[in-house]
Amino acid sequence: MRVLVNPEPEIAMAHGSITPRVKRTTTSSSSRRFSPLSCNTLVIVLLVATILLLLHRNSPSPAASSAPASFSGDLRHAEFSWNSLPLSLRRPPPVSLKIGVFSRKWPASAVPGGMERHAFELHSALASRGHRVHVFTSPPTSGVPSSLYSAGASEYPKVHFLEGTPGQWRCGEAFVMFEEENKREPFDVVHSESVSLHHRFAKQVPNLIVSWHGIALEALQSGIYQDLIRAPDEPINPSFNHSLGASIFKVLDEIRFFRSYAQHVATSDSTGEMLTDVYQIPKERVHIILNGVDEEKFSPDAKLAKSFRQEIGVPDDAAVVLGVAGRLVRDKGHPLLYEAFAELITSNPKVYLVIAGTGPWQQRYIDLGPNVIALGALLPSKLKAFYNAIDVFLNPTLRPQGLDQTQMEAMLCQTPVVVTRLPSIKKSIVVDDEFGFMFAPNVAALTETLQKVVAEGSRRLAERGRKCREYAKVKLTARKMAMAYERLFLCVKNESYCKYPLDFD
Ligand SMILES: *[C@@H]1O[C@H](CO)[C@@H](O)[C@H](O)[C@H]1NC(C)=O
Ligand SMILES: *[C@@H]1O[C@H](CO)[C@@H](O)[C@H](O)[C@H]1NC(C)=O
Repeated sequence: MRVLVNPEPEIAMAHGSITPRVKRTTTSSSSRRFSPLSCNTLVIVLLVATILLLLHRNSPSPAASSAPASFSGDLRHAEFSWNSLPLSLRRPPPVSLKIGVFSRKWPASAVPGGMERHAFELHSALASRGHRVHVFTSPPTSGVPSSLYSAGASEYPKVHFLEGTPGQWRCGEAFVMFEEENKREPFDVVHSESVSLHHRFAKQVPNLIVSWHGIALEALQSGIYQDLIRAPDEPINPSFNHSLGASIFKVLDEIRFFRSYAQHVATSDSTGEMLTDVYQIPKERVHIILNGVDEEKFSPDAKLAKSFRQEIGVPDDAAVVLGVAGRLVRDKGHPLLYEAFAELITSNPKVYLVIAGTGPWQQRYIDLGPNVIALGALLPSKLKAFYNAIDVFLNPTLRPQGLDQTQMEAMLCQTPVVVTRLPSIKKSIVVDDEFGFMFAPNVAALTETLQKVVAEGSRRLAERGRKCREYAKVKLTARKMAMAYERLFLCVKNESYCKYPLDFD
């Protein structure tokens, strides 16, 4: 089946097998001539960019998404993310739900990608709260320890693997398996991770909730940013050019088929707004639930910070230590950071950049000299030390699809952030100027921002970090995410649970 959106809001930092980008082929000069088609596409792209800009200029202030301490009413009309609700993990759910899950992927390696990790964490948490979760997914890749398939010895989540070629998703067959299980005892609710359940089948499932981990409108915006960082004499990569041109049609396609899904979960506030305002999905069918990160794994630890700095060789007289993590590729903004950092250290010799991750940009960073500390792929167990050891976390991403978990992990560790000014980040992450800095994705803006960060110094940055943690603890934890989904699922099963607060709240 077609995959219309990139399903992985990346972080595959300790990923062993990084696929190197295909080397750019130099195109002949003829490719730079405008054809009528490319003009049309350009006009459409500019139009969409304008719509996006207007949309975000006219949108309400960040206050709209802040914690609704006194909210009461029907949650389907909530203007804020459901993570904001003070739902208590201690009270048991009022009923045990039978939940069906379509997930193209289920963790099949030690370091799973974003979407499958989300699916695994969420549904393991729901199962541990007594819900009967059935997962329908691709055939397992061979040689993977079975402990990775399920959360443990417990009966749920029960994983139904397809048979056949490992990793190959065949939606029709999964739907047949689902229907058999549904005949035995009907599912209370059904959850699809992105387009795992194709819209052809979605129409037949009235109690379906789909979570969008990135939509085509965001991919289009990402394409615009990526092309804008191309140097004037740099030829456009033909396959990138093609996908950029095609992305407008993907948006149109999505707008037409998204309505086949009954209920939608937007994983950022801005995606929620696009779904209602551009995709024209009625507001009461769009719910915002941010993905969360494990608060047990990420927390402040000053001792650990100190020892890790020694371990990786940060000099004692370092003024400010910047950190970046993830795949070191173009669409994560590394061409920008590389140039900005090179410029920064000409006037700030005591500023350091710690890099966790691998990719084509790694060697270029290393060539900048001793101000760069490249750690390569970092084991997940070292991530907490990494976030604690740096003064500020940088995420120069050009991809607005989904929200990178890295920045949330940093904030939970009490580290402020410097992030690209994307609608999703502005409305869901850096909702307060105290949390850090945002910059337009170009070298000049990033360089200027980094100069501001360095001028502030580590003490002021630490103060910002404390504010980050206060916010992250309330809004960005995996526990909050699971509770928000549970409430939404209850509300889809029985309208009476859509009211808030109820006597068990
Ligand atoms: C880019 O795509 C347009 C159509 O969208 C095409 O007309 C143009 O020739 C392409 N340019 C290159 C360099 O591939
Ligand atoms: C919904 O829940 C309420 C209260 O918990 C219950 O009285 C009602 O029968 C339920 N409705 C359905 C259709 O299950």
